[in-house]
Amino acid sequence: MKETRKVFLLDDDDLIISMLSRSLKKAGFDVQTDTESGGALQKIKSFNPDVVMLDIKMPKPDGMDILREIQDSQIETQVVMLTSDDTAETAVTAMKLGAADYLTKPFHTDEVKIVIDKVIEKERLKQEVQFLRKAYSEFVEKDIIGRSEAIRGLLEKVDRIARARVNNILITGESGTGKEVVARHIHNLMFEQNSTGHAPFITVNCAAMPESLLESELFGYIKGSFTDAKSDKKGLFELASGGTILLDEIGEMKMDLQSKLLRVLEDRTIRRIGGKSEMPIDATVIATTNKNLSDAVGKSEFRKDLFFRLSTFYLHIIPLRERREDVAPLADHFLNIFTAKYNNPSLKGFTPEAMQVLTSASWPGNVRELKNLIERIVVLETTDMIGPEHIPGWITGGTMSNGPKPSNGFRLPDAGIDLENLEKNLIRQALEKAEYNKALAAKMLNMSYDSLRYQVKKFGLESS
Ligand SMILES: Nc1ncnc2c1ncn2[C@@H]1O[C@H](COP(=O)(O)OP(=O)(O)OP(=O)(O)O)[C@@H](O)[C@H]1O
Ligand SMILES: [Mg+2]
Repeated sequence: MKETRKVFLLDDDDLIISMLSRSLKKAGFDVQTDTESGGALQKIKSFNPDVVMLDIKMPKPDGMDILREIQDSQIETQVVMLTSDDTAETAVTAMKLGAADYLTKPFHTDEVKIVIDKVIEKERLKQEVQFLRKAYSEFVEKDIIGRSEAIRGLLEKVDRIARARVNNILITGESGTGKEVVARHIHNLMFEQNSTGHAPFITVNCAAMPESLLESELFGYIKGSFTDAKSDKKGLFELASGGTILLDEIGEMKMDLQSKLLRVLEDRTIRRIGGKSEMPIDATVIATTNKNLSDAVGKSEFRKDLFFRLSTFYLHIIPLRERREDVAPLADHFLNIFTAKYNNPSLKGFTPEAMQVLTSASWPGNVRELKNLIERIVVLETTDMIGPEHIPGWITGGTMSNGPKPSNGFRLPDAGIDLENLEKNLIRQALEKAEYNKALAAKMLNMSYDSLRYQVKKFGLESS
């Protein structure tokens, strides 16, 4: 691992460059900067930084172009985008393209350091878990927080699956919805509760390794079976024996390896690369993905037989915006954790207005985004109650005001909104106001009775 951490800054604003590079150098980073993006990629390649910070808005090629170039040339670095409020939406796209995080201008230099440290730490942990057997209860919650019907239903199902000790489980859901927390929870229920010994929990990220390496990591090998096989090596399936192996991002696994995995799941045996004998495996296999696997099957990117095999025990975690009742308990939970971690006991809680704002936000990054936000607030704000003013604009962008009825004057926030959710939310409010008199609710929304009825059905808003 490198000793001094290196950061490369690219921004056409001299002021930002000099402010950032001064404070990062002071914090012990090795910093290189550029204000022009033309030759930036070459400089990044030769500097080999841990983190690259890219301004989104620049004369072409802009930050997004450079991000794509970095991804295309497979430079191993973490990218943090620098945005202004009006490019926040682009920042979300950037995260989807593989940026590790983003910062909205104007930012506080402490905030920058936290983000860089976090990005570096996350990458370090990711590398560690790819190759090591590791219990990582310290950064994934042990408990699943939530009171929505979806979460209660999920927990019940999880309980039954764990008691039955099934051999393989598939967990799907958008990024940040808690697939890994659920996987760990299942593992704890299955192995940790009544045993004193330590059952292994091994995570393998199927997207992060080249196929051949992934195969040898999973199955192990016999000395001499290929050039680098200097001695026998156990595979992760073997190491997970008596516990759980989590195959993260299974949707990215190559077809060839998929058929080998299917064989493992069906026969419950593995054979090391170059090995002659089959060995029984005794590990629960949990696969997770944020891809829609049945779509991937349709596009012939994922084997149908493997999909069927995996989906016998199938758990889907819905996005946070579809279970808003969970926002408050999660926010309280993270506030407790971070006020303790950063020793900030004077921060007592959220005002009802702040909680309202959090509850109606759209959370494209789901629970992870909420958790990160609360951490930032705990570190950066000196207040005893968190109010709406402490919540950044890009979070509140999708929320509705309690002010006068928005009509033609309704202004689209810079960060955009989740239109479908807004619609659902408004229809629900109208129904509640009209005490489920649909004709009245339709009138409030200036729509026909029939189209309201259609929408109510579509969004599942029938009164119970
Ligand atoms: N219901 C929950 N209760 C408590 N913490 C949660 C819950 N859901 C998610 N978290 C926290 O949110 C963060 C993201 O969760 P997790 O890593 O499980 O997401 P994921 O679905 O695996 O995401 P990705 O697809 O990006 O890997 C973690 O820090 C996790 O501890
Ligand atoms: Mg995950």
